[in-house]
Amino acid sequence: MDVNAKAQFGDYQNEIYFDGLFGVLPALPLSPSDLEERGQAALAPSVRSYVAGGAGDETTQRANTAAFERYGLVPRMMVGAARRDLTVDLFGLTLPSPLLLAPVGVIGLCAQDGHGDLATARAAARTGVPMIASTLSVDPMEDVAAGFGDTPGFFQLYTPTDRALAESLVHRAEAAGFKAIVVTLDTWITGWRPRDLATGNFPQLRGHCLANYTSDPVFRARLANPPEADPRAAVLEWTQVFGNPLTWDDLPWLRSITELPIVLKGICHPEDVRRAKDGGADAVYCSNHGGRQANGGLPALAALPGVVEAADGLPVLFDSGVRTGADVVKALALGATAVAVGRPYAYGLALGGTDGIVHVLRSILAEADLIMAVDGYPTIADLRAEGALRRL
Ligand code: FNR
Repeated sequence: MDVNAKAQFGDYQNEIYFDGLFGVLPALPLSPSDLEERGQAALAPSVRSYVAGGAGDETTQRANTAAFERYGLVPRMMVGAARRDLTVDLFGLTLPSPLLLAPVGVIGLCAQDGHGDLATARAAARTGVPMIASTLSVDPMEDVAAGFGDTPGFFQLYTPTDRALAESLVHRAEAAGFKAIVVTLDTWITGWRPRDLATGNFPQLRGHCLANYTSDPVFRARLANPPEADPRAAVLEWTQVFGNPLTWDDLPWLRSITELPIVLKGICHPEDVRRAKDGGADAVYCSNHGGRQANGGLPALAALPGVVEAADGLPVLFDSGVRTGADVVKALALGATAVAVGRPYAYGLALGGTDGIVHVLRSILAEADLIMAVDGYPTIADLRAEGALRRL
């Protein structure tokens, strides 16, 4: 077999080195800390604190990233891992890699032109990395989905208190071509976020990122005047419908409103995995919302092994603290089916628009691929072999 026949993710470094031969240095950051620092500086202060900040004193947020340092891959030699296979099967789709774009509700505001949802969709189209589009977006989901190209997209649902509105959002997502519904369970109420509280800043209350509501016929029917005529009343109405503290008794209803795969996001306890499975969920999504919702919790990575075990073959999506290709490899080795990136792509977007997101995703994938090459794990299944990953 010609090992050079098909591009691999690690080839991204060749592009960068070859550019260097001609004196062209990368304009975008290569290290996670540089990305974070420069990306935050490129955001407006109110968006910066909303994106970078988390719950409480942010101990859980920091623990999410630090947790990866407790694991290490054990290198294997003479494997000849000249080609790596990072493809993943999810909901009957074959994805080119295990990477996903986590739903980020203010991603629209992270773009310099204020249309970051559309920029993210274009990045998904260019990379094959599916976007999980948030309910909270600057542009309506139909416009976002129109940018996906051949890459599948998933819709993240914040389940409104009004069931008719929830059904309308889900049916619009189906019609727009989304391939799964990701129901976020941990954010029916906003966690205690000192950075945002200190500036009295909550973007949605200022009317941002509500396009999926203001474009929805069920939501509009709840208003005395169209949102264009009375935006303040629309925001007030939004506060009434936004957060629904779902219980397991709601799952049969959720299951009944769509044929699309349902993913439950925010699951960290094995017993919740079993209930999700019993209730007909098609996947669980192990996450603590990047430490934005409840401080004082364990890092999400600490919950992953228990979730994977209880899932017993049900796909497990994972996020919270993923910053590098090494992090992706470790989450896969612990059994995650797919791994989502959150804050890093918001910083890439702030710095370089669609190109910035593409760069962040390609960098993470290149590193993951090269680690699998160097350490002799050519497939994701190999990463899960006994003894591949050690806990320090
Ligand atoms: C989020 N997250 C999120 N999750 C979700 O289900 N719907 C949403 O609208 C949002 N919005 C959102 C905004 C911002 C600014 C951030 C940073 C995150 C959570 C997101 O999907 C994911 O769980 C975290 O981003 C993972 O943490 P890290 O890796 O980004 O630190």
